[in-house]
Amino acid sequence: MNKKNNPLLQQISIYIHWPFCLSKCPYCDFNSHVRTNFDYKKMISAYISEIHSIKNFIHDSPLEIGSIFFGGGTPSLMPPKFVEKIISTLERYWKFSDKLEISLEANPNSVDLVKFNGFKNAGVNRLSLGVQALNDKDLKFLGRSHTCNESLKALDIASKIFKKTSIDLIYGRPKQSTSDWELELSSALKLPINHISLYQLTIEKGTQFFTDARDKKFIMPNENYQNTMFNISNIITEQAGFTSYEISNYARPNFTCKHNLTYWLYKPYIGIGPGAHGRMPAKDGGRVATRMHSKPETWLDAVCSNGHGIAQKSAISAKERATEALILGLRLTEGINKKHFETNTGVKFNDAVIASEIKRLEEKNYIVNSEQKLKLTKHGRPLLNSILSHIVAYE
Ligand SMILES: C[S@@+](CC[C@H](N)C(=O)[O-])C[C@H]1O[C@@H](n2cnc3c(N)ncnc32)[C@H](O)[C@@H]1O
Ligand code: SF4
Repeated sequence: MNKKNNPLLQQISIYIHWPFCLSKCPYCDFNSHVRTNFDYKKMISAYISEIHSIKNFIHDSPLEIGSIFFGGGTPSLMPPKFVEKIISTLERYWKFSDKLEISLEANPNSVDLVKFNGFKNAGVNRLSLGVQALNDKDLKFLGRSHTCNESLKALDIASKIFKKTSIDLIYGRPKQSTSDWELELSSALKLPINHISLYQLTIEKGTQFFTDARDKKFIMPNENYQNTMFNISNIITEQAGFTSYEISNYARPNFTCKHNLTYWLYKPYIGIGPGAHGRMPAKDGGRVATRMHSKPETWLDAVCSNGHGIAQKSAISAKERATEALILGLRLTEGINKKHFETNTGVKFNDAVIASEIKRLEEKNYIVNSEQKLKLTKHGRPLLNSILSHIVAYE
């Protein structure tokens, strides 16, 4: 039954976290772990048990899966038969949308033709490759264990197998000039991709780069310089036919990432696997937040004992929902649709924002506030975090 036949049918997305990597990149604070030995067989049974438990936690309303995202860590290290088992388990419990998008993140050094074909046969139809930089010197600085040629080879294979291909690049690296970035991004946009994510290098607490930056082993570009690079990114991507639909994401027409839009539009999703977060639909139309144990061993023990690895599960208050939806929604270029905001959060839009601040920022040409929408202007986009700190009404 589709939505037309059943107006109560709600779309949901599934995030599957695979927490292992071959090595730890010095900038990365994602839940990723290097293990030489692990009981992977036990691990896959645990994913299946967790899906089963979560299914029983969700109230009984008609749901259909619109997207599945295998993220990490490095999910391209998963054997394709694990991916297939997870997808077929999900299909046993929920209906799949006709337009189901199944994305998988891959590292250029953990894939080959056979593996990519295996993922495709398992059901994956969108591949996102962590290219990060298009020169070997910067790849080395970023602690990546692949070369630029290896990335290009992996992408070439991927583009012949998957209709939807995306790459990630990190910019704002120490000593990277604006003209270096212009050239690098222009070459990237000529690659066989229809989506690109461009992330400014951020120095996260607890990472090797945090210590290195503190010890002045390298100097990060200042904020103004980063903003210039951001503006350059917007111009060059647009010239190449990519639309900037979110602060860090650009797509050719009809190739936006369905899964990530779930987050930004504040739609419900289920998180499975170590460290995964979820925002499951609640009976009253709200959300239940879930967070799984992060350490793979702890998660696995918990699933073996309880059938799931949930470390935290709590209903989110209407005010929290409103704040989350503002923080996520303003990342979108098209901004927040106030009517959808009210449906998804149960809070009146005007109660969630500080009217005087909205007016002040509108006069400064940082935001546009119409009856239907609130969005950032071109000038406001680099200032997202500061703007949010002014307009959010609830702490
Ligand atoms: C889950 S991670 C990585 C996926 C995959 N394991 C890889 O490394 O290619 C998703 C993306 O976040 C970006 N990222 C991670 N840490 C970052 C940081 N500190 N600054 C900027 N981008 C970062 C990288 O571009 C990375 O590809
Ligand atoms: S950036 Fe990717 S490969 Fe590197 S440690 Fe993080 S998740 Fe693993």
